[in-house]
Amino acid sequence: MRYFFAILFGFLLLALTVFGIAGIRGKEFRKPPLEIFDDMVRQDKLRPQVPNGFMADGRSSQAHVAGTVAQRIGDQNNNTWQGSARNTGLVPGTTNFVATIPVPVTAALLDRGRERYNISCLPCHGAIGDGNGITKKIGAMAIVAPLVGEAGKNAIIIPDGQVFHIISQGKAPNMQGYAATIEINDRWAIVAYVRALQRARFATLEEVPAADRATLK
Ligand code: HEC
Repeated sequence: MRYFFAILFGFLLLALTVFGIAGIRGKEFRKPPLEIFDDMVRQDKLRPQVPNGFMADGRSSQAHVAGTVAQRIGDQNNNTWQGSARNTGLVPGTTNFVATIPVPVTAALLDRGRERYNISCLPCHGAIGDGNGITKKIGAMAIVAPLVGEAGKNAIIIPDGQVFHIISQGKAPNMQGYAATIEINDRWAIVAYVRALQRARFATLEEVPAADRATLK
């Protein structure tokens, strides 16, 4: 009996201590409660826009690595999203493709476009855009749409915005979209380069700078 009261007393004391420190769940306090288990309510983490001594520049959020591709921008499957012509290839507020490239077309953009085309498109469409890339030769792709010449007429007549759209979303059934891996400006650079390939196919000797003509023979 003596032990019974000792244990009961000990238990009450323990309960009192626990409630005294932790309080009753749901009760409102003026001061923050003492947390025994914080259930991950509070965590050690960096919030954006907060100074941080760990990084050399003193910021918690670091700038994107150059070449980072934004995800879900210009996603034309998301009908609720309206964006600029540059992001979507569409005339804003409509479902019409823009006729011409909405970014300044410069020599630098074309150079970039050639580089990106040669990485992402050449394996299938070929270096000159005739659809005879390595994937066809090794039998990985049965047919690849030509982008230039008479056979590539469809790719020539579609508006620039639609070429951008095809690069972004692909073309069913055999070409996948590259929105997740090719950055928006690079997609426009590729559009410009594809246009240059198409133009080159029909160019006459007179259009080549005089100094370069001899090298073509
Ligand atoms: C894996 C092979 C592959 C790659 C890589 C690829 N394409 Fe395609 N592309 C195709 C195939 C195949 C078609 C034909 C689509 C179909 O009808 O199935 C096509 C169609 C197209 C068309 C439409 C042509 C038309 O007649 O309407 C365009 C434009 C195009 N591709 C541009 C590009 C560009 C630009 C790139 C690089 C960003 C690229 N493609 C990368 C295989 C590829």
